[in-house]
Amino acid sequence: MALREIVTVGDEVLRKRAREVVNVNDKLCVLLDDMAETMRYEGRGIGLAAPQVGILKRVFVVDVGDENGLIEFINPEIIEAEGEVIGEEGCLSVPGRSGCVVRPERITVRAMDRHGERFELKAEGILAVCICHENDHLDGVLFIDKIVEQEEEPN
Ligand code: NI
Repeated sequence: MALREIVTVGDEVLRKRAREVVNVNDKLCVLLDDMAETMRYEGRGIGLAAPQVGILKRVFVVDVGDENGLIEFINPEIIEAEGEVIGEEGCLSVPGRSGCVVRPERITVRAMDRHGERFELKAEGILAVCICHENDHLDGVLFIDKIVEQEEEPN
């Protein structure tokens, strides 16, 4: 495993639509391992999407510290969303900024795992928010595009 460099806002790779994964191969598994390691190294990270390490593939990893542990998503699709919650978000690619964003309260997401198996997951709370945030990265969308309320600057 290796740490990957996180690209930050201003780099146009963050604004492009990532491409569907066609083959789940060893190279993709290395990417997933590296992304998990990079996310954990960064400490504050609870999710990381491939475009954030400069790779335009529809892949992200999340670990919100619950019983699910690390979850890897390949070609994810949010197929159901209900409710609304507002919460503060930040992003490893937007250092030093946070703000409140409206997200669904509950979602159902469908994706593929590293064995090429399809799975469906129902998520709520922080996990749902994190999945929506990471999924946005795959379409070139950042949380700062959706801020409804800015965090106040610390004194
Ligand atoms: Ni992010």
